[in-house]
Amino acid sequence: MGLGPALCLSLCLCLCLCLSWLLSRPPAAAGLPLAPGPREEVLAAALQRLREVFDIEELPPDVLPRKKPPQFMVDLFNKVADANGITRAPGLLQGNVVRSFEDRVHVDQYHFYFDISAIEKGEQMLKAEFRVFKLKKKAMARRSDLPHFCKVEVYELLESGSKPQKKQLISSRLLSLYTEGWEVFSVTQTVSKWVGNSSSNHGFLITTTHVFNNRIEHNLVKFAKSQGSLQESRNALLVLFTNSHKRRSSSFVPSSASRFTEHMSRRPRAAALPSTKSQVTACHRRELYVDFRAIGWSGWIIYPSGYNAFYCRGTCLFPLGESQNATNHATVQSIVHTLKLSQDISTPCCVPDELKSLNLLYFDDKENVVLKNYKDMVATRCGCH
Ligand SMILES: *[C@@H]1O[C@H](CO)[C@@H](O)[C@H](O)[C@H]1NC(C)=O
Ligand SMILES: *[C@@H]1O[C@H](CO)[C@@H](O)[C@H](O)[C@H]1NC(C)=O
Repeated sequence: MGLGPALCLSLCLCLCLCLSWLLSRPPAAAGLPLAPGPREEVLAAALQRLREVFDIEELPPDVLPRKKPPQFMVDLFNKVADANGITRAPGLLQGNVVRSFEDRVHVDQYHFYFDISAIEKGEQMLKAEFRVFKLKKKAMARRSDLPHFCKVEVYELLESGSKPQKKQLISSRLLSLYTEGWEVFSVTQTVSKWVGNSSSNHGFLITTTHVFNNRIEHNLVKFAKSQGSLQESRNALLVLFTNSHKRRSSSFVPSSASRFTEHMSRRPRAAALPSTKSQVTACHRRELYVDFRAIGWSGWIIYPSGYNAFYCRGTCLFPLGESQNATNHATVQSIVHTLKLSQDISTPCCVPDELKSLNLLYFDDKENVVLKNYKDMVATRCGCH
């Protein structure tokens, strides 16, 4: 779009506010102060811009509550984000996007195929994990002289269709016959190749062998397959940790953000909302709730249902107290303004001076569950700049 990062940020926050304001109004309330065209046009443009901010190319269908997200993705979201989606601490997540793909091919118990076409161009693969749930072997006569282990091998299939298939070993391990639980295989190299050339993706094959009395037994052990909703929570998953460079990283530039703040502080006056008294309050942070239900996105965003972006409001008049977090530059500007030492010098601007990232867990347009981290979405502090 060619927009500078800071402008993007200000547009985003502005749109969030404008949008929630628009949406909170009944359609009958005419006289929208910012609208040159009809209200619908403004709303459509705002929604389009919001989709760009959240990097949503195709609007996903309403998947909830028909489908449940994989528990692994829900746990991952809760690990990196609080209930409002705000990042708990930096560095918890590898990369800024985690995509999960469910196995949807039911040829037999041992073939697994994942349609990874939702991955975007320019997305850099960091790590790929193949997660399968190993089922317990139904207890046969459990004699202590029998070996309790079997060898499990994961192969990349090099061709589709007819058996026997050409395959390449990725990983091998010994597992107990009588325990159950998740097994995680690192498949980064293989999946990186698939990302580069989608026609080389023929899926995985898992084989198990059990040696007993010099006889080799195959496929004694089974892995959960999503047949029926009972096993749904144990369905095999391919999880990709990636870095998307597409998202504009909005390093914070106060000058354009201050334009945004001026705009913000003018807007409620235009709408004749607050009293005149608020115009002289010192720079402070206010709530700005972005409700995904109001935007119509609640059918596919799993968590959170909305978040508080906050905004900054108030004036930066001399003397600037410590709580106003003024830069030295702002302090000097407020003095020049107060003493009228120079023409046309306004007061410094009250803008966000610390922002946190937001995490979203959602179904994409192909119904895969994605966890994405968005930089600089929540104002945690305001200051005079
Ligand atoms: C992509 O993979 C297919 C199937 O493995 C192969 O025949 C083809 O040569 C590959 N294309 C490229 C550009 O590597
Ligand atoms: C300035 O920073 C302090 C400490 O982080 C914070 O408590 C205060 O609310 C900030 N001031 C504004 C105007 O946000």
